[in-house]
Amino acid sequence: MKMTKDRTATMLAIVQDGYGAPERVLRSDHIDRPQAGTGEVLVRLRATSVNTPDWGTVAGVPYVLRLGTGLRRPARPIRGSDLAGVVEAVGPDVNDLRPGDEVLGSLWGSGSRAGTFAEYTVAPERQLVTKPTGLSFEEAAASVMTGLTALTAMREVGGAGPGKRVLVNGASGGVGTMAVQIAKTLGAEVTGVCGTGNVELVRSLGADHVIDHTKQDFTQIQRRYDIILDNVLNRPPSATARLLAPHGVFIPNSIGNTGGLLAGLPRTLRATLMRKGTTKVKLVKFAVNRENLDALVHLLESGQVRVVIDTTYPLDQAASAVAHMLGHHARGKVAISV
Ligand SMILES: NC(=O)c1ccc[n+]([C@@H]2O[C@H](COP(=O)([O-])OP(=O)(O)OC[C@H]3O[C@@H](n4cnc5c(N)ncnc54)[C@H](OP(=O)(O)O)[C@@H]3O)[C@@H](O)[C@H]2O)c1
Repeated sequence: MKMTKDRTATMLAIVQDGYGAPERVLRSDHIDRPQAGTGEVLVRLRATSVNTPDWGTVAGVPYVLRLGTGLRRPARPIRGSDLAGVVEAVGPDVNDLRPGDEVLGSLWGSGSRAGTFAEYTVAPERQLVTKPTGLSFEEAAASVMTGLTALTAMREVGGAGPGKRVLVNGASGGVGTMAVQIAKTLGAEVTGVCGTGNVELVRSLGADHVIDHTKQDFTQIQRRYDIILDNVLNRPPSATARLLAPHGVFIPNSIGNTGGLLAGLPRTLRATLMRKGTTKVKLVKFAVNRENLDALVHLLESGQVRVVIDTTYPLDQAASAVAHMLGHHARGKVAISV
């Protein structure tokens, strides 16, 4: 007798079989739907987005990270953490959300074995908030990891505010487009560093000054900064740190684009070990919780911050979406619609 899978209990998901080129290691499959446990919500995904941990795990770089993700293939086969969608069902002890609610959030840091490159996922209720109606599912899903990284970097780690000068290297990327706008809403003076084709974009996000990295090495400029958020780490940290004003904060925030055994990790380590008088070096570690998500949603809902999306791919072309991010020149975010 021929067996057919019960499609009501399964879902389409993008499954990763090994490490390497996205087109080679990512494939569509029908697998069992996850089920919401205690405090968890089953979400019917409408959109997700690609972040550095996704392309890093697909490519398996830096190689050293495979010690944590799995030596030959990732132990968690589905990529993705950002999410926007509709609540399908709730588990025990879920208090606020109901089936039919539109939500945004992230699985990041939850310890969940699920992913978001799929039709359904389960997320802890505490890592979800109501999606503003004025925001598309794609914008909502593309805002979460990069928005929370930028918010934490500017507000808590850097302490951006009126009278502070902020420099953002990689201002046209996912984190950078958010960081420029958030620093402006906090009242800082902002300089963005990006490539020629993105100068107007970064200016339109509110940057007071824009440096084209194809024409000028930003580490050679005379200006001094209170906060430097470096999303690229393509210059030696000591050269970047020379631009810091007294009591300035350097925030190295990149695993680097080079791949290999350690990629940009030695540079990040060198940066954190630097001692430069009164200046500080601090890393960004963001938390996905309701307080931070509400702060991000407020910025988006009020129109103070917009989500820049380069391209949206359908779920079955998730490999192309990841490959796009691996080119390291997306304008803002790469989204996936489900
Ligand atoms: N701390 C955290 O929790 C956290 C979370 C997420 C991400 N991150 C880190 O944040 C970093 C940025 O992430 P993202 O999502 O913003 O990446 P992204 O969207 O890929 O950003 C790429 C940026 O890098 C710039 N760039 C690429 N090559 C360059 C070069 N040779 N010289 C100068 N600029 C170059 C691009 O500028 P042009 O295209 O204009 O040239 C663009 O602005 C990642 O390395 C990641 O590790 C950290």
